[in-house]
Amino acid sequence: MKIIGGPASQLLASRTARALGTKPVLCEFNRFPDGELYLRITEETENERVALIQSTPTDSDFVSLLQLIDACEGARELNVVIPYMGYARQDKKFKPGEPISAHAVARCIRADRVFTINIHEKSVLKHFPCPAENLDAAKLVGEYIAGLGLKDPLLIAPDSGAEGLVKNVSSGLGFEYDHLEKTRLSGDTVVIKTKNLDVTGRHVVLVDDMIATGGTMAESIRMLRDQGAARVYIACVHPVLARNAVLRLFNAGVKDIIGTDTLERAESQLSVAPLIADALKGL
Ligand code: R5P
Repeated sequence: MKIIGGPASQLLASRTARALGTKPVLCEFNRFPDGELYLRITEETENERVALIQSTPTDSDFVSLLQLIDACEGARELNVVIPYMGYARQDKKFKPGEPISAHAVARCIRADRVFTINIHEKSVLKHFPCPAENLDAAKLVGEYIAGLGLKDPLLIAPDSGAEGLVKNVSSGLGFEYDHLEKTRLSGDTVVIKTKNLDVTGRHVVLVDDMIATGGTMAESIRMLRDQGAARVYIACVHPVLARNAVLRLFNAGVKDIIGTDTLERAESQLSVAPLIADALKGL
């Protein structure tokens, strides 16, 4: 199978190809003078089995994914891996007149099969016009946390939406886990309800599917530090880390930010390549 990485997932595609014992196909990425995107796959894909790997954190990344799919039109089998899918959080109409953006995006993906990783809302999968499967990086995140040698660790989900994830991350590793309650006031402001927890002197890891503006985690870190947690780490699958999120988190007292390479950031300390490689091997 030919592994083709888009501009947002070059490292992850390369790691996946290596895990499968092959080399990633070389692509060229550029822009026309007017700003429009140009790309070229430098190997023939006609009648080949292909896996495209491209996260879509930006609109340009989404256009690049559509271009890659179009460039592979003659492939015998086209698998599209979207490790981080942008717009997945607008999974319903919150107000009249709004689009279901996740639907608008997913319906454009013409492929034989789609894989996502810890997509924000699994109901989005039904919007793809082909079979779509969500892969779970929880085990990889849990193993990474287990390797940190933390003192009396407690894993905490910052809201009820992340309860399932923190449970899966802890699963089989014997970590104690709990969750907080969050109310969102605006795009970057949240309130975390105070909860008395047994964190004094302990190493706490906050676990969520993604960190966007850092508001959720910053408020949670403050509460846990106020209650005497010795160290607070944050772990997520998708380190979106928009705007000044990193500064907000360190200002709140985080010990370290742990993310995966579904988004390639300085904080992407662990790779989901084994997860993707296993899924592709199973086809
Ligand atoms: C929302 O439900 C997600 O799981 C995250 O909690 C949220 O996207 C984090 O956003 P922010 O970092 O902007 O608070």
